[in-house]
Amino acid sequence: EIHALNRIKRKIREIKDWPKTGVTFRDVCPLFEDPKAFHDAIDLLRDRYSSYQFDVVAGVEARGFVIGAALAYSLGKGFLPLRKEGKLPGPNLSKAYQLEYGSSTLEVQNFCPRRGLRVVVVDDLLAKGGTLEAACFLIESCGGTVVEASVLVELSSLRGKEVLEVRGWKVFSLLKYD
Ligand code: PRP
Ligand code: HPA
Repeated sequence: EIHALNRIKRKIREIKDWPKTGVTFRDVCPLFEDPKAFHDAIDLLRDRYSSYQFDVVAGVEARGFVIGAALAYSLGKGFLPLRKEGKLPGPNLSKAYQLEYGSSTLEVQNFCPRRGLRVVVVDDLLAKGGTLEAACFLIESCGGTVVEASVLVELSSLRGKEVLEVRGWKVFSLLKYD
């Protein structure tokens, strides 16, 4: 597992001052492109969630779709997309949130009952936590229960995990950076 985590870590690029001065951006796209590292990452998540009782994987557009869809498929679960504003035919629920480098709105479709649905929420990266907080809020707003919020990379110094945990949502990350 250490080998796998190192292989994953080696594939995450660091870009200083992007997309804004002062932000150090961790880019997971090279990890997605590398077959071994991508497999390792999905397999580690699959191993964790194979023992969980849950119904569906929700993924956050855009990079959360890559991980979320692969994880859902590997566990034989469905996939629920949480999309950026204006992309989904409604009726939708919406939630605006702040990012490290701007603001955005996430949406979930809301035309079928989801009461009691147990959901694992997935994204590539946790920074300040606004995105995953909005994602978990939407899951609960449409009747679901967040079993855990899960990311490949957590930028620990930005303390996004606390933002989620104070609201009672568990957080798991494969890798942490300061
Ligand atoms: C990035 C990343 C996470 C979010 C993390 O997405 O993929 O979703 O920011 O930041 P936070 O913890 O401070 O909210 P971005 O909104 O840049 O969109 P993209 O996936 O569509 O590129
Ligand atoms: N990488 C990718 N997405 C992000 C980052 C980052 O460093 N910070 C906020 N969203």
